Parts: sequence; C-alpha cells; structure tokens
Amino acid sequence: MTLLRNIALLAALALASCRGGDADGNAAASSQAQSAIAPILTTPDAVDTASFARPLEARVHHVALDLAVDFNAKRVGGTATLDIGRKPGAQQIILDDKGLEIASITDGGGEPLPWKVGAADEKLGAPLAVGLRPDTKRLVIKYKSAPDAGALQWLTPEQTAGKTRPYLFSQGQAIENRSWIPTQDSPGIRQTWEATVRVPAGLTAVMSAPKSREPITQGGESVFSYRMPHSVAPYMIAIAVGDLRFRELGPRTGVWTEPAMLDRAAGELADTEKMMAAAEQLYGPYRWGRYDLLVLPPAFPYGGMENPTLTFLTPTFIAGDKSLVGLVAHELAHSWSGNLVTNATWADSWLNEGFTTYFENRIMEAIYGPRRAAQEAALSFDDMTDALKEDGQGAPITRLNLSKEEAVPDGGATGIIYDKGAAFLRTLERLAGRQRWDAYLRSYFDRHAFQPMTSALFLSDLRNNLVKGDKALESKLQLDRWVYQPGLPSNVARPDPAAFAAIDSAVVAFARGGPVPSAFSRWTTAEKLRFLNSLPRELAAERLNALNGTLRLNEAGNQEVLFAWLSLAVENRYEAAVQPLERFLTAQGRGKFVRPLIQALAKDVQWGRPIASRIYARTRPLYHPLVTRDLDELKLAAPAP
Ligand code: BES
Ligand code: ZN
Repeated sequence: MTLLRNIALLAALALASCRGGDADGNAAASSQAQSAIAPILTTPDAVDTASFARPLEARVHHVALDLAVDFNAKRVGGTATLDIGRKPGAQQIILDDKGLEIASITDGGGEPLPWKVGAADEKLGAPLAVGLRPDTKRLVIKYKSAPDAGALQWLTPEQTAGKTRPYLFSQGQAIENRSWIPTQDSPGIRQTWEATVRVPAGLTAVMSAPKSREPITQGGESVFSYRMPHSVAPYMIAIAVGDLRFRELGPRTGVWTEPAMLDRAAGELADTEKMMAAAEQLYGPYRWGRYDLLVLPPAFPYGGMENPTLTFLTPTFIAGDKSLVGLVAHELAHSWSGNLVTNATWADSWLNEGFTTYFENRIMEAIYGPRRAAQEAALSFDDMTDALKEDGQGAPITRLNLSKEEAVPDGGATGIIYDKGAAFLRTLERLAGRQRWDAYLRSYFDRHAFQPMTSALFLSDLRNNLVKGDKALESKLQLDRWVYQPGLPSNVARPDPAAFAAIDSAVVAFARGGPVPSAFSRWTTAEKLRFLNSLPRELAAERLNALNGTLRLNEAGNQEVLFAWLSLAVENRYEAAVQPLERFLTAQGRGKFVRPLIQALAKDVQWGRPIASRIYARTRPLYHPLVTRDLDELKLAAPAP
C-alpha cells in the first residue's frame, strides 16, 4: 500500500532534482511557480495510453504562453516556453501535438534544438520529439494552431447573443488541448502555467487562472495576463474571448457573459457563494482563490466544464427558477474531485466524474434540502440502471476502472462513470456511516491535493484510512467488486422509494388511459423528468396530443424538460413536435441534447431520417467539432441543391 506511494515519490524526486539552477542563462520564470513539482505516478495503471509523453524520462513542469488570437485566420499563435525536468542522461522529451504548425524550437538561450513530429494517429495526434542537450532546461516553441483545432470553437457574430463581435472558446478535456498548446497532454503530468494573450481591442480574454496583470489596450489590441500558481492537469488550461462583462455574485464568486445575458445568468447563479460554503463545510477549503463562472453562447458542447477558477457553462441551464443548478454544484464539486485530485488516466475518469456526481448531490442536499437531493439521486440511479440494461450487466464497459481500450475520454456514456460511480460512493457512505465517511473523504482531499489518482491508489487509501483492518466492514463493502467488475454489486444503496411514489402512480394512471396529471405544473423539475422518462415509450398521437395540449410541452422553457418531451415525441413520430424540435436543434448545440435527438431521427429511416437530413444541413455549422464529429458518422444526405 504505502509501497505504491513511496515508489511514486521517488520517481517525482528524480525528476524534480534536475530543476534547480538555470543553465539556459534565463531569468527564472520557473521560480515563479509556487507549488512543488507534482509527482508522476509510476504504477502500471497510471500509464496514460492517450498521450505520447514519457514523463519518467523527461517532463514539463511549467508552461508559459505568449499568444495572439487571430479571428480572421482562426488561429492562435506565438510562443510556448516549457520548463522541463528529466532523468539524468535523457536525450529527448516527447510532447503531444495535434495539427500544430511549428516554426522553430530553441532552448532558453535561443539555440535551435532538433525536433521531429512522428506519425499521426487520428484521435491522439502525433508525438513531437525534441532533442535535448545536457544543459537544456527550457524549450521555446514558436507555433500556430490549425484552423480546425479540435479544442477551439470560433463563433461568428451571428452565433453570439450580441450579434456584433466574434467569440472564441476552448474545451481541453479530455485530449483536445494538444491542438493549441504544445505540451505533455496527460492528466498525470501536472504543470503550473501562465499566459499573455493579445486580442482585438474591445474583446475580453478570460482564462482558467488568476489574473496576473491589469489588461492594457493599445494600438488596436488588448493584452491579458493570467498565471496559475498550482500544478494542474494540462486539460484544465482554458480560454474564452468575446464581448464579455463581469458581475459580482459574492465575495469570492462572479459571472462573466455577454452583456445581453448578464441579468439572467446572474439571477440563476445567485446561490453560488452559498454552494461554495456548503462544499467547504463538507470536504475542506476551496484552494483556488476565486470561483467565477462563464456562461457561454448556446453552441457550447457540454453542460459545463470545470476549468479551475472559471467554470464554463451552457446557457441551457438557465430555467429562470434555479431548477437546473445541479450543474453548477457539479462543476464546483470538481474543484475538489477532478481539479485537486485528478484521474491519472482516462481509464479512471470515474474518480473525477463519479466522485463529483456524488459530491454534487451532497451540495444540493445542503442548499435545497434532502427532498430535492433524494429526487436527483434517484434520477441518477435511473440513468445508471438504463446504462446497465443497455450495455448488459456483464459488459466490460460497465466497470468503473476501464481498460485502456474502453476508455473513451469524451464524456460520452455517463450512466456508468458518473452514476454507477456515485452509487458506489453512496453505498460506502451508507455502510460506513455518514460521519465516518465524510471525515474520510475530507482527509482524502487533503492527503492527495494537487496530485494524480488511480483506482488502485484510491482503494489502498480507503483501506488504510477508513477500513483500517475492520474485517466485517471490508467484506460488507465489496470494494474490488465495485471497481473492477461489471454490473451492479448486491450491496448497492438504493434510492429512497418515496422519492417518486406519487409520480410513479401518475405514470401508471396515464398509461392506463387516465388523465394528464393536473399537478404537473407544480412538480419539481426532477418529478417532471421522471414522469416523462417513465411513460410507455409507445404512445398514440391522441395521448401525445393530450399531454402537449394540457402541459404545453412543445413550449417548455426548461431545456431538460423540453429535451425529455422531444425524445418521447421523436420515438412516436409525433408530427406536431417537429417544428419545436427544429427550433430546439437550431437554438443550442449541447451534445447531450443534440446527439441523441438527431441519432434517433436518423435511425428511423422512413420518417425521421429525411427530417434529420434537412435539419442537420442547416444546423451543422452551429455545432462544435466534438458534436459534428459524431453526427457526421450518420452520413445524412446533403440538402437538395
Ligand atoms: N468534466 C465534465 C465534462 C467532460 C467530461 C468533458 C469528459 C470532456 C470529457 C463536466 O464536469 C461534466 O460532467 N459535464 C456534464 C454536466 C454534469 C452535470 C453531468 C455535461 O456537460 O453534461
Ligand atoms: Zn463532471
């Protein structure tokens, strides 16, 4: 157990020891990095097959970017200065590169270094090998990103709320940042970083780190500087540029968004400061300084992204009644699970997402009470059950710790990683007792702050600090069964059966031909979702008419409710929902909504596929490359000329 950690620390020291001094003769930008160089784990399960880096030979520990954002060329370009450490005698360092246009690589003193880009893999990009001289401690890379860089989405003014200025944002997780930053793009290789960014005057650049200088505007451009003093996984470096305004929410929290969105965004996010306090109460201090949120244009492909100090959010969470702020609790919770303690590889992303789904629910309970939390936990349990049913209880992809081949690091199938992961932690809570479990989890974040984590390391930490040789508890927990086996262990903590009792009766009544539930409009969002998602999947047009007529579902303002309704409507070829569907698919590009709807249409060759072709031909330019990458596979016909 402790052996694992000792090996890891030795490896870290070996690499850190070659840091000191500055043979490049450059003033030490690296010495600005405050936190210690984060260790590299050395166990076989910590080897990241989604990166070309070989961190035990040579590793990056600090990245300094000096970039200009060119909206016309759709490129960011400039220099990346990397401070590195290495094993004595290592003659090269391998970085990750996806389509970067590299002009030159020199050491800190300006002497050219030999470099070569290896064969490219479609998903992973290519290894960028840079030759090192015995005294090389710094690389200076002059480069540009390609116009089709996977991490970057360039929005035209029409795709923004204000319609007059362009917009750029990045999405690094999981392995996209290598398309705009030449570094070792692996979550186990933590790096401090800083950036200076030049943008056209009038636009604002925000990044996932504290501001290090006041912005200046001069000669038609504005310059922004940020610096992250903690070692972070490189997927956590993020940028957005647009016509942005800021409004304070509380002493440590605030929201950035386009001017037209500011009031609605700030209203929906009013509880953020309270959520922070609740999270700290549960699992220890928030260690990142400020917590701001950026509400993006509707093309943002995810619900949210936990970029440190600056969570990115879809505008589709704005319902007007805070009913979808579980998303905010989720991204905030990642400030502990994910950003502080980070999966070392994407095969263990349940350590990020499962922990966070659990922690999210604890924050929701603290702020909105046990009833809402129990309902949301029950929905998560449903999502898990659906995934297990779909994949089959014995399928290897229903394990929490995935094999390297199964680990698809794109946030796709969430029923296992997120919901089975959360069910595991709920089970641990129930069997150990909340008090004991909370004390353990808090100490886990303290012990592993700013470090990578694997399934095996978590289990050994849990055994050392929670189970502590209690044989009865150990056998009750079924730890290895949960983490390494497919399907659902028998000790799973089931959701409170009372959570949806009334809703489930209403479903049964309606399915038998009974009335549309008159209480629907007074239900919580979770109740509405449970109702719509539990209805028989086959409904006659007359029954759908009854639902739509009474509940005005085609006009639902809550985007999760609208999505649940449209999914049901598509399954039943409900004509009256086609127009609202088209509006929905044009108004936002969130992958979780857009993918399944268009895929369901496309599967229905007779009725749905022509509709999908027509809509997608129009909406494709609005969607993020991560979304079109999947939808293009459907090979929908191009529109008639
Ligand atoms: N970190 C994820 C998003 C992600 C995961 C991006 C994997 C790329 C690869 C984020 O925290 C998340 O889970 N977002 C969810 C919302 C959440 C409430 C379930 C989403 O975007 O839907
Ligand atoms: Zn998440």
